[in-house]
Amino acid sequence: MTVTKRNVVVIGATGSQGGSVVTEFLKHPHLYHIRAITRDPSKSKAQKLAAQGVELFRADLGGDRENLAAAFAGADVIYALTDFWQHQSAAAEIQQGKAIADTAAEITTLRHFIWSALPDPVALSGGQFLNVHHWKGKSLVTEYIQTQKPDLWAKTTTILFPNYFENTLTYPHQYLPVKDDKGIYNVSFPHSPQTVMPNVAIRDTGKLVHLVLEAGAHYFTKTIAFWSEAISEADKLAELGSYYKVPTRYQPSSASEFQQLLKSRDGMSEDIALDFTEQLLIFEKCGNVYAREEFVQAKDIPGLKLQNWSEFIRQHKLL
Ligand SMILES: NC(=O)c1ccc[n+]([C@@H]2O[C@H](COP(=O)([O-])OP(=O)(O)OC[C@H]3O[C@@H](n4cnc5c(N)ncnc54)[C@H](OP(=O)(O)O)[C@@H]3O)[C@@H](O)[C@H]2O)c1
Repeated sequence: MTVTKRNVVVIGATGSQGGSVVTEFLKHPHLYHIRAITRDPSKSKAQKLAAQGVELFRADLGGDRENLAAAFAGADVIYALTDFWQHQSAAAEIQQGKAIADTAAEITTLRHFIWSALPDPVALSGGQFLNVHHWKGKSLVTEYIQTQKPDLWAKTTTILFPNYFENTLTYPHQYLPVKDDKGIYNVSFPHSPQTVMPNVAIRDTGKLVHLVLEAGAHYFTKTIAFWSEAISEADKLAELGSYYKVPTRYQPSSASEFQQLLKSRDGMSEDIALDFTEQLLIFEKCGNVYAREEFVQAKDIPGLKLQNWSEFIRQHKLL
């Protein structure tokens, strides 16, 4: 039997999520022709993809719509994300998300649209947290697709991303413990030691996306909560300490202390420090909102083996 290759367009192919999607798709060359969107095809991450047979397409999500339409032309599948952290502006993220949706809706060949999102922080917290802009913007784009682009929504699968284990590799100063002068490794978050957050190894994104595509229409209009393990920062630290045989101390901080730390240590603006802190407080005040029944739970999808923290720390040198 001959299988017709699907043309898949991957936004963010040079980054964490899209990079994982491309890595997985490259394992199935008979199934997928991959077009990677990048703003700079000459950069080394893009060139590495090209060397593996990935087609590169230069496009900027914030650029003109004609270029985006050319990038999506002939696509059977689009893996779509927006990157809040580029502009740190919900308005810019919403504009990009709507441009993606408007353009994808016009692609007559499109069979499956995968939308990388975050949940509505206001709805999930019952109105307690109003400043989590990097969640809210994405959720407004999801709502836009659902209400304004019903034909596109009919073939859309939304994936909610949690905290990446890989944040420890990408942003070690923010996510790895700091050794003090007594040799103790310290971590501080605005969470009680018992507060759990959903986490995943972002390198597993591609496995999920491949299974979702293989399932045909099964996940159309569904929202998948993508996490392998709900674990507290205190337990992550304790497990890391026990693996490396070093003493650790988890120190819960207040919200205002944590915001101050984000500003002084990480150079965040007042608004972004508040945004970042409030997203963490959602789990403190509302529990693991990703586990709610309204979402399909990725860890329950048959055939999907997701890495947990214990496996992650054995695979990477963290301390
Ligand atoms: N880190 C976490 O724990 C976490 C958790 C949940 C959700 N998220 C969300 O994940 C998103 C970022 O995804 P990621 O982690 O995969 O990002 P990443 O590793 O930082 O890579 C960003 C990707 O986005 C592409 N990109 C950015 N702006 C673009 C533009 N204007 N036009 C075209 N492409 C653009 C970049 O492509 P080029 O540079 O090649 O153009 C790059 O491939 C953010 O919106 C964030 O809120 C992160």
